[in-house]
Amino acid sequence: MLGCMTDPGMHEIPLQGGDVSDGVVRVGDTVRRPMGPHSELVHRLLGQLEEADVDCVPRFLGIDEQGREILSWIEGEVAGRPWPDWVADPERATSVARLLRRLDDALVHIGLPDDTAVRSWPSGAPEPVGPVASFLGHRHVAPENTVFRDGRAVALLDFDLTSPSSRVDEVVNLLLWWAGWMAPEDRNPVFQGVDPGERGRLLVDTYGLSDEEKEWVVPVAISAAQQSWHWMKHRAEDQGGGWRRMWDEGVGDQIRRREHWLVAEQDALRRTLMEDLPETHEDVEHRDGGSTAVSTERSAGA
Ligand SMILES: Nc1ncnc2c1ncn2[C@@H]1O[C@H](COP(=O)(O)OP(=O)(O)OP(=O)(O)O)[C@@H](O)[C@H]1O
Ligand SMILES: [Mg+2]
Repeated sequence: MLGCMTDPGMHEIPLQGGDVSDGVVRVGDTVRRPMGPHSELVHRLLGQLEEADVDCVPRFLGIDEQGREILSWIEGEVAGRPWPDWVADPERATSVARLLRRLDDALVHIGLPDDTAVRSWPSGAPEPVGPVASFLGHRHVAPENTVFRDGRAVALLDFDLTSPSSRVDEVVNLLLWWAGWMAPEDRNPVFQGVDPGERGRLLVDTYGLSDEEKEWVVPVAISAAQQSWHWMKHRAEDQGGGWRRMWDEGVGDQIRRREHWLVAEQDALRRTLMEDLPETHEDVEHRDGGSTAVSTERSAGA
């Protein structure tokens, strides 16, 4: 697969979506992305997901003559910037929670590779808290990395931030992007009128965390904000590029404000997440069908 040639007749269409990778392009039915130190891990993981018949991620197709990774193009709708209003739509958000659950079930089954058995954290940051990491999570479930078809999330792109995770780590990342879990002044305008606690509960219940895992959500969110500040600072200093750009634009202050908001709201958020919702017919069907996820219909109306 190495050294796949690009047909000279195929032109490259620049793709924008994230903040970090410059030079992501579409070529026909493929995407070409610059590689980094993490790429080998990502390629191995995408290969394992393909073997497991998981169809909600791009396929890794090889490396082109310019040393870029080749991924399959996934047709659908992805939020650009500024975010469209539908990013705050509860049906869209619950479909992302269900998709993440499906992906994580496969990732849990694959487990951690032998050479990545421990969770690492940047020097200077406090030790992360929460359940033990048991799989390589996606950890960047941003709207720009989520593909929709017919209003439903069907695929997650961009595994560059994959790292040893617990289900709680994944859900905390989900809440950051799809429940507006950050300081009110930093929340995207589309989240105006969305209650982060209620939206958080909807997504946590749709994903289907156990009560014990739910208790961890707020402490892990606070811990993740602390980690994130240090990661961003290190990446800005060591890797520069988009990381430096984001740091200079004040992402560090934004992360600190997120941490302070979470600390100030922790009791209220925990209470909201732990509240029991009444069961509906759909829940019973889901449960009897072997799924722990809660239905959108009930949750969306909750
Ligand atoms: N395999 C794919 N199928 C469909 N669209 C894709 C695919 N890969 C990328 N895209 C589109 O290109 C955009 C940018 O791609 P990607 O997320 O891989 O890079 P990036 O976000 O620029 O990188 P980073 O997050 O590291 O800054 C995405 O938001 C999406 O719109
Ligand atoms: Mg991206």
